[in-house]
Amino acid sequence: MEEKAQIILNGKTYEFPVVAGTENEKAIDISQLRSKTSYITLDSGFANTGACTSAITFLDGEKGILRYRGIPIEKIAEKSTFVETAYLLIQGELPTKVQLEKFAHSFTRHAALHKDMLKFFDGYPAAGHPMGLLSAMACSLSGYYPELLKADSSEEEIELMAAQLLSKVRTISAYIYKRTLNQPFIPPRDDLKYIPNFLHMMFSAPQKDYKIEETVVSALQTLLILHADHEQNCSTSAVRLVGSSRANLYASVSAGVCALWGPLHGGANQEVVEMLEEIHKEKGNIHKFIEMAKDPKGNYRLMGFGHRVYKNYDPRARIIKERTYALFDKLGIHDPLLEIAVKLEEAVLKDDYFVQRKLYPNVDFYSGLIYKAIGIPTNMFPVMFAIGRMPGWIAHWKEMKGDPQTRLGRPRQIYMGPTQRSYISMEERP
Ligand code: ACO
Repeated sequence: MEEKAQIILNGKTYEFPVVAGTENEKAIDISQLRSKTSYITLDSGFANTGACTSAITFLDGEKGILRYRGIPIEKIAEKSTFVETAYLLIQGELPTKVQLEKFAHSFTRHAALHKDMLKFFDGYPAAGHPMGLLSAMACSLSGYYPELLKADSSEEEIELMAAQLLSKVRTISAYIYKRTLNQPFIPPRDDLKYIPNFLHMMFSAPQKDYKIEETVVSALQTLLILHADHEQNCSTSAVRLVGSSRANLYASVSAGVCALWGPLHGGANQEVVEMLEEIHKEKGNIHKFIEMAKDPKGNYRLMGFGHRVYKNYDPRARIIKERTYALFDKLGIHDPLLEIAVKLEEAVLKDDYFVQRKLYPNVDFYSGLIYKAIGIPTNMFPVMFAIGRMPGWIAHWKEMKGDPQTRLGRPRQIYMGPTQRSYISMEERP
C-alpha cells in the first residue's frame, strides 16, 4: 500500500505523499503544505528537512555508514586516488583508464594561474586568514575563465570546468601558503601528479626541490578522499543555495569555502589542534577542558567531537586515526598532541555527558595532527579541507543544475517582530 502522511489542522486532515530513497530513507513531501493549508514547517538548522533528492553520497549516521555513489568509503580510501574519487563523485561512475587519463591530463593542463591573478595575492595581508583569500580567488576565477560559464554547458564542458577548478584551487592554495610566508611562488610541474604537485608548490624553494615522500602523499591522499563529499552539510548546502539562483560554479563554490571556514564546520580542524596545544600547555589536564565543555553556563565545546548526523563513531575519523599512527610510525614522529588526543577521546567516550548526547570524534579530530606532521600550519587546515571538499561541491552543483525539480532556494520564516506601528519623527522621539 502506498504510504501517506496525514496532518490534522483545526480538525481537517491533509494528506501528503511519502518519498522513499534507494536505501529506504523516508521523507514526507510537504512541497504542497503551504498551498493546501497556509502553514509552513519550522525546522531550525534544517535538522529534519530534506532540501533535495541526491544520488551522490549515502550516509547513515546511526550505523556509521558512508558511501560515495554506493561504494563504501573504507574501500575508496584503501584503493582509490583523490582524482579518481573526484571523477566518481562528479560523473557518477568510476572512470575507465582512458577517461581517468583524460581527466588527469586536464588537471596538468590547467594547473597554472593567469598571470594577472597573481597580483591578487600581493593585495591581501600576509597575516590574513587563508580562507578569506581562497574564497575570493575561487570566485575571481569567473572573471578569468568566462568562456566556461555558459548556462547550457555540455557534459564535456562541465568536466573540463571541474578539472580546471580542482587543479587551480590546488595551485591557489599553495600560493596562499607562500604568500603567508612572503616567499616566491613555486609554479606547478607537468610531470607531477595531483598531490605531489601540491606538495612541490607548497614546500619547494626556488633553488631547492622538496623531497616528496610516498608516505606523505598517501596520507594526504586518504585525507582528501575522506573529505571529498558528505551530502547536504553546511558548505554543500551553501553551494546548492547559491547555485540555485543559477549563479556560476565559481561563485557557488566560493560560498562553500566561506561556509566551511566556520569553527563548527571545516574550521574545526584548526580549532582541534589549537585546543590540543592549549591542553598541552596546561600539562595535559584534559579533565579541565572536559568539565568546561560540560558546564551548562558556558558555551565552550570540545572541538572535533559531535556531529549533526553521526550518532555513532564517524567512519572517517576511524580511518584517519589509523592513518595518523601509520604516518607517525613511518616518519618516526613523536607528537605529544597525539597522546593528548587519544587520552581525550578515551575519557570522552566514557563520560556520561558525551555518551548520552552520542558525541564521538568527528572527521576533524585527528586530521589536523596529520597536516601538522606534514608541516602544514594550522591556519591552512581549513584550506586543506576545502581542497578535499571541492569534488563534492562540484558534484552537487552539477546535480542540482541538471535536476528538473530544482527551484530557487528560498526558505520562509515565522516573523516574531513588532506588529504594525507608526513612524515617529525625529522631533517626537524621546
Ligand atoms: N562539546 C561539548 N558539548 C557538545 C559538543 C561538543 N563538541 N557538541 C555538541 N554538544 C552538546 C550541546 O551542548 C548540546 O547539549 P544540550 O543538549 O545539553 O544543549 C548537545 O550536545 C547537542 O548539540 P547541538 O549543538 O544541538 O548539536 P548539533 O547537531 O547542532 O551540532 C556540531 C553539531 C555543530 C558539530 C556540534 O557537535 C559541535 O559544535 N561540535 C564541535 C565543533 C566541531 O567539531 N565541528 C566539526 C563537525 S564535522 C564537520 O562539520 C566537518
